[in-house]
Order: sequence, then C-alpha cells, then structure tokens
Amino acid sequence: MSIVIAVDGTAASGKGTLAKKLAAHFGFHYLDSGALYRLVGVGVVEAHGNPNIEADALAAARRIDHTRADDPVLRTAAAGTLASIVSAHPAVRTALLDFQRTFARLPPGVVIDGRDIGTVVCPQATAKLFVEASAEVRAHRRFLELAAKAVAENSDPPDEARLLAEIVARDTRDRSRAVAPLKPAEDALLLDTSNLDIDGAFAAALALVSPRVENVLNSLAKG
Ligand code: DC
Repeated sequence: MSIVIAVDGTAASGKGTLAKKLAAHFGFHYLDSGALYRLVGVGVVEAHGNPNIEADALAAARRIDHTRADDPVLRTAAAGTLASIVSAHPAVRTALLDFQRTFARLPPGVVIDGRDIGTVVCPQATAKLFVEASAEVRAHRRFLELAAKAVAENSDPPDEARLLAEIVARDTRDRSRAVAPLKPAEDALLLDTSNLDIDGAFAAALALVSPRVENVLNSLAKG
C-alpha cells in the first residue's frame, strides 16, 4: 500500500505550493492534477476545437502529452479558465482518472493536488487536506505575483478587480458542476490560509497531516 496525501482546494489557495512542500518533506512523488486539465483545455484550442463541446474536450484528453506539464502556457489565466470549462465534462474526468489512480500507487507515497482527489480520485487517501483562503486574499496574492512579473518584464500592471472576478467565476464553476464538484471530503482536514504566509501555512498543513502519515509509515516499518 502506498501513502496518499490528497490536497484539494480553491483556485490560488496555495494548495500547489503546500502539496509540493509536503512531497519534498516526506520524499513522496508529486502530481499537479490541475495541469492535466490545463493540458486538455490548451489542447482543445490548439486543435481548433470548442472547450464547451464534450467530444472536442474528450479528444484532447485522449491525446494529452504529459511531457508538457511544465509548459509555461499552462500557467496563464486563460489556461486556468479553459481547464475549468473542460473539467466539467464527465467524459474528460473519466479519461483522466486512470492516469491519476496509477500515479497514486507509486511507492512510497504521493501527494496529489486538485479539486476532487479526496472525494473521487483517492477516496481512501491516508490524509486529506482541504485548503481555502478568502477570494480577496487569493486575488491579492495573484496580483502581487503578476505585478512583480510585470515590473520584471516592463509590461502593464495587473488589474486586481479583474483577478478577483476571475477567481470568483472559477470557484463558482468548479463548485457547481454536476460531476466531482469542488467540496471538502467528509473526512478532510480543513486549512484556511487567509492569514498565513507560506511558512505558516506549511507548518499548519504538516501538523494536520503528519499524525496520519507517520501512523502508516510506522506500521509499514513494523511490516
Ligand atoms: O488547480 P488548477 O488551478 O491548476 O486547476 C485548473 C482547473 O482544472 C480548475 O479550475 C478545475 C480543474 N480541475 C479539476 O476539475 N479537478 C482537479 N482535480 C484539478 C483541476
């Protein structure tokens, strides 16, 4: 049995950073499941398809190229919106399930972040973290990130009100879809990072998941 830490949460809640840090801490493999949906969203557009049409999105899901997971084009706001649109199609979610569940079996353990890891992909996960922060805080964090980038690139500064509207629209779409909507699993450990910096959020996340992970590690060590 391998150990699974599921890290679900809202857009820009910091779940990706936390998941990566948890994976490094425990020496586990890390999967950003959002990147899979981003690959599908970008893939549909590249194939001149329509992300709202399930067959177009499914075709893109069937030919995703995992070696592109670090492509900077996936990190744009447009790719995030496309991912959120294609992720509402049940056939797309099913097409991506096998890859995620196979990944989840990698020894000695994995950390996967997303929206439905604790509820659908790995309901038997060792520990489930649900990360949230207020929409205003998340929009402000995104604003600071993009503002620094704009200074470095000598481009226009971002519009914080627009970023807030995008985040609220994405949360609403992710929460209201019929299949695998964004919601905490019943046994999820809740973490609100609104008033925490990265180090504080990581310390809190570790305090929540460590007892469960250590338990399994200890019983594996005993054989
Ligand atoms: O985590 P992210 O911002 O990269 O995710 C982009 C979109 O992909 C998100 O708005 C909804 C979708 N997604 C999903 O439906 N299920 C997941 N497990 C991960 C992401």
